[in-house]
Formats: sequence, C-alpha cells, structure tokens
Amino acid sequence: MLVSLLIFVILNVRQFDIFIRLGIGMAKEVVQELRKFVAPEFIFGIGARLQAGRYARNMGASTVLVVSDPGVIAAGWTAQVIDCLKEEGVETVLFSGVTPNPKDHEVMQGAASYHEADCDAIVAVGGGSTIDCAKGIAIVVANGGHILDYVGVDTVSEPGPPLICIPTTAGTAADVSQFAIIVDTHNRNKIAIITKAIVPDLSLIDPATTTTMDPFLTACTGIDALTHAIEATVSNAHSAITDLHALKAIELVKENLELVVLHPDNMAAREGMTLGCLEAGLAFSNASLGAVHAMAHSLGGYFDLPHGECNAMILPHVMEFNLPASGDQFRKIMKAMALDVTGSKTLKEMRQQILQEVDRLRRVVGIHATLSDHGVHRTDIGELAVKALRDPCLVTNPRSVQRRDLEVLYEESL
Ligand SMILES: [Fe+2]
Repeated sequence: MLVSLLIFVILNVRQFDIFIRLGIGMAKEVVQELRKFVAPEFIFGIGARLQAGRYARNMGASTVLVVSDPGVIAAGWTAQVIDCLKEEGVETVLFSGVTPNPKDHEVMQGAASYHEADCDAIVAVGGGSTIDCAKGIAIVVANGGHILDYVGVDTVSEPGPPLICIPTTAGTAADVSQFAIIVDTHNRNKIAIITKAIVPDLSLIDPATTTTMDPFLTACTGIDALTHAIEATVSNAHSAITDLHALKAIELVKENLELVVLHPDNMAAREGMTLGCLEAGLAFSNASLGAVHAMAHSLGGYFDLPHGECNAMILPHVMEFNLPASGDQFRKIMKAMALDVTGSKTLKEMRQQILQEVDRLRRVVGIHATLSDHGVHRTDIGELAVKALRDPCLVTNPRSVQRRDLEVLYEESL
C-alpha cells in the first residue's frame, strides 16, 4: 500500500511534467510542476443544506439512503434534509447506526440497509465519521465484498452510487476528500481507503450546521483542520496549488478558531472555520498528510479517542521532528499564523515560536490532555508504532520516519 501511494504521487509529477513540456513548448523552462487536483462539486453558504432535494432529483435518485448519527438527528439537521428530499418526490430510508470512529460492521449494516430498501443514492448528514461511513457503504454496494477488502490506494474499481454530503462539523473535510478512514474492529486499527472513486458527487457546505457542535467538538474538529493544513503544507506531495489552499486554511483557523470556541454564536467566525476546513480539505486531499495522522489513526483506532484530540496531542511533537526537513515550508506556515518571520531566523528560533503558538492555540480552545490522561501507557507504544508505520499518510511525511522515531514521538506525547 505504501509503495502504491508513492508511485501514485511520482506518476502524477511525471505525467504533468511531460504534459507541460509538450503542451506549452519545449523552449520554455518548466518552473512549476503541475499536479493532479481532484475536488467535488460543492455549494458553500448558509442554506446550502436545503439544496439536497433538488440535486438528488436531478441526479435521478428515487430512493435515498440517508446516513446520519443520533447527535445530528437530535440537532434537527437530518429531518430538514429528509423533508427537502421528500418535497422533491425522493423517498428516504434513514440509517443512523454510525458511531464516532466509524466501524467496519457499521459500514456493512449500512450497505445491507441500502440493498434492503433498493436505494439508488446516498445522502450523508453529519461529521467525518458519518461521511466516511457513507463512503464505505458506497464502495460496498457498488463493488460487493467486505469494506476491509478495499484497504489501500486505488483499490476500488467500480464507482459508487450518487453521493451527496452535508457536513455538520468544520474539520474533517471528508465531504471533499479522496480519503475514508474506517476502524478495523478485529485489529483495533483505523484503515485508510484512498481513491478518487470516493470523492462525493456533491458537497453542500452550510456553516449553519456547525452551530450545534459543543465547544469541545468545535475545538477538536478545528485543530483537525489546522493539522490537515500544516501536514499538507510540508507534505512531500505538496504543490503551489495545494499550498494556496493549505496556507489560506491556516490563516482562517488562526483567525477564527479561538473566536468560535469562545463565542459559539458568532456566525462570521463559524463561516470562517467552515471555509478554513474546506480549504484544508482541498489541500490534504491532493497533497496527502503525514506522521501526525498516521499516529492519530493508530491511536484513535486502538483507544477509540476523538480524532481531532489525537491530532492535538501529537501535532507539536511531529512538527518539531519535521522542522529540520522542511524549514522553508514551516516559514510559510508561520507567516500564515501571523508570526514574526522577519530576518533570518534560526531553526531553533522558528521552533520555539511556532510550537509555542500551536500549544497556546490548543490550550485556549480547551484541549489540555496528553496521551497518559487517556490511559495510554509506555507498554502500548510498541503496538501503536507498528500500526502507525503501516499507515499510508506516513509516505508523504517530509522526514523519513522509522519505528523508533514513532515510539519516541508517542513517548513525548504521553
Ligand atoms: Fe484529520
């Protein structure tokens, strides 16, 4: 799987390098390698969620599997979407068996519900777990077998049924990404499925839906968005195009996360965070991620912890580890975070400034825990490191990572 991702990245560079030489002319110097950039159609803005019915009808849907979770249903968003589907004459069947960190058996139950009701489209209303579960359902109903058959990069041959996503958090960006993260419950590990086949057909990104998140979920999902943007910026597969999105995302998270946690009703800040999440998603879906996510997937799968909080506990340590390998990109991150980048700062000075700021941000939004606070012991680290070492996100980390490096990074995060 790791080799596949590396080849995927290299091929993109080669293909577009050839394209630019042939298409623009041999005489011109290639100054910027082009990269493939995949994104779904999306509508951004307050009220976007209410477009679900019209789009589902236009896609030819007659019976939609609505995938959601109990918290989002209680908040009322799912009912609003179901109502607007019905207004357009589209039948609905609700599947609400999704939990945080979506499990393999939940995907299989959802696929069974899809077949039982003879559905022909999927609408996901919820956070990243719900959307990843919906992506998994789409894979299984179109390709058969078990969701764990599709672990890895480009393993899905048949495209799924039409998939519309309505995110209710501002962080995971699963609604625009080529990634689905599912828990392999037998092995207590999160697996990654990375393929263009699971990019949703449409994302309806409505900042209003994020207003029902509690402050801690707002903080965790916001730090997840920041982590996406930072990892995409320093990724081996970053490009000028992904940098544009990633650095804008960092600016938006810096401007809005603290504000939205302290003032949850500030709609301008909610909109800023929703946009920041989208920008980060566009970046990481195309540049991939790094060691923070590899370690967070291993940790979250083993201990069933919130993904954003896992990232927050690990992020500063991985940034410190990566800084020597990607100083120029970290300088851009510092600028996007409105930190002082004047003069020729040493790596030591940069490290102190940027780590202080990341630590300040996570604490001010209420994320204080370390791995030890969640019951992680030194004796767990070996297994966590082995699982993280197999995660495809590690391929694009800017600095080569060995098992011992991962063990040290987990130890530092205890
Ligand atoms: Fe993430």
